[in-house]
Amino acid sequence: MPHTAASTLSILHRGRRLRRSAGIRSLVRETRLSPDMFLYPLFVCPGEGVRREVPSMPGVSQLSVDQAVAEAGAARADGIRGVLLFGLPAYKDDLGSAAYDPDAPVQAAVRALKAAHPDLVVFTDVCLCEYTSHGHCGLVIDGEIANDPSVEQLVRTAVSQAAAGADVVSPSDMMDGRVAAIRHALDERGFEQVAIMSYAAKYCSAFYGPFREAAASAPSFGDRRSHQMDPANVEEALREVRQDIDEGADIVMVKPAVPYLDVLSKVKETFGYPTAAYHVSGEYAMLKAAARNGWIDERRAMLETLTAIRRAGADIIITYYAREAARLLV
Ligand code: PBG
Repeated sequence: MPHTAASTLSILHRGRRLRRSAGIRSLVRETRLSPDMFLYPLFVCPGEGVRREVPSMPGVSQLSVDQAVAEAGAARADGIRGVLLFGLPAYKDDLGSAAYDPDAPVQAAVRALKAAHPDLVVFTDVCLCEYTSHGHCGLVIDGEIANDPSVEQLVRTAVSQAAAGADVVSPSDMMDGRVAAIRHALDERGFEQVAIMSYAAKYCSAFYGPFREAAASAPSFGDRRSHQMDPANVEEALREVRQDIDEGADIVMVKPAVPYLDVLSKVKETFGYPTAAYHVSGEYAMLKAAARNGWIDERRAMLETLTAIRRAGADIIITYYAREAARLLV
């Protein structure tokens, strides 16, 4: 039969009927983004009035405490409910002892943020890599990262952050047993209301490169393969998540986000637990770089990316795009 303009096939289900207008598309949309699901990472450094942009992360700066307070206030005004703090300490040593110095930038920032913005939810990163002279996430003994002594340092760090007023401590080190050890120590000291967001399935990823510039945390020798996960593994991710939940994690995380959307989706489906995904520095830097070259439409690529992370199952999206995205969504 010849196909003329007037010929009509009988097709029972025409998907295009629900794509005809912005109105109908919005009525049948399955996934929505809103600013209150974003968690905004901040890098806190010593000094005052410091706002030093990270070259590989346009729009992201190392901030002194006063500037971090201002940035968090602006984010709050954009509709963002929480920040995740990383620190650049004034000194580093083999033990990473600045991680639990009550006067270190992160602890000072927690106090200042809670005073200035009481309803802001303050998360703190618990790891040693920003604080050790060798840049490893734990203590190095005989050329290896020693698990249990490292956990003791992480516990000290989490307790000092809780004492400063952190709402949620977030161990990102990938040492075994740290969630249980932190939960126990927090409870013993009367911090039973402080929650734990564990970086449960954290992969050994090339996409952390720009972060290590931002946080001055690149390892001076070796890599993180002895503790971060092999990118090829997904069953192992489920075991890691199960273990962290059993040890007392309140929120579990998959990191990075986009290359691991399958893992995120399985974690959410399997455990039905509050789940965060970290859209990491390298993922952000790639979009920024392509946009700066005029190769992609940044706004569309950003919202498509964040929507995909949400669709795969994230309740919380940790992203350097938090403010930019929030401003487009209101
Ligand atoms: C600390 C830590 C890292 C990131 C978050 N916490 C870096 C690493 O493991 O080397 C990466 C975040 C990002 O790339 O945005 N261990």
